[in-house]
Amino acid sequence: MLDAGHIPQHVAIVMDGNGRWADKRMLPKMAGHNAGMKAMKEIVKCADQLGVKYLTVYAFSTENWKRSVEEVSGIFKLIVIYVDSELKELHGNNVNVSILGDYSMLPKDSVQRLGYAIETTKNNTGLRFNIALNYGGRDEISRAVKSIAEEAKAGTLELPDINEDTISSRLWTGSHHADIPDPELIIRTSNEMRLSNFLLWQSAYSEFVFTQTLWPDFTPDEFKRCIMEFQERKRRFGGR
Ligand code: IPE
Ligand code: IPE
Ligand code: MG
Repeated sequence: MLDAGHIPQHVAIVMDGNGRWADKRMLPKMAGHNAGMKAMKEIVKCADQLGVKYLTVYAFSTENWKRSVEEVSGIFKLIVIYVDSELKELHGNNVNVSILGDYSMLPKDSVQRLGYAIETTKNNTGLRFNIALNYGGRDEISRAVKSIAEEAKAGTLELPDINEDTISSRLWTGSHHADIPDPELIIRTSNEMRLSNFLLWQSAYSEFVFTQTLWPDFTPDEFKRCIMEFQERKRRFGGR
């Protein structure tokens, strides 16, 4: 049974397996991404209902630019279609939509549509729904280091004052941008046991749940089972 009193505050998901889902059905890759968007829609609702405070989904990595122009632009289009069509309901449910990653590199109309969704929902106090878009953990840490170096050079930050918090605060999840706690639980679908550059710094003490399900087949019931598995874990954080 799911323990309603012990729901993780922040759940992050590597939504993987859209391509294989489409291949299995001899459909084009975009059909997989489309089905994946539908699965995501249900998980956002379920997370909200369960009382998850932060849900982060990996939608596009800094490495995903290696894919064909058609696939890349198709994925961006789908994300915008999702945000556009769901915005009213998300806003109505007090959901706060945000992006982790530099999405300014996306096509102009996508940037504008996403900006509108962020602006519309910015004062909402319910579920914070983070879309990791053009996100890479190494890129994020490099940017933090650069911003710290700039401040040190300008003399506004002294070397002895640089510590873990200095770095954390400058990540996309950090207080300079967002103030999102580290994820307690990271789920990855499609039977791949790796992070693929997702939340490298923030995952230091996250619990991982891997499932064989391809992302488009991932359901709210399975999401709940992943949380149940998390609830059985003993977290020690290096202590006894
Ligand atoms: C995940 O599905 C979605 C993105 C990376 C954007 P994939 O497209 O990676 O699916 P597989 O791994 O090829 O099955
Ligand atoms: C991770 O999946 C990125 C997203 C889900 C957006 P990939 O399919 O890109 O990861 P690899 O290439 O299998 O490591
Ligand atoms: Mg993949």
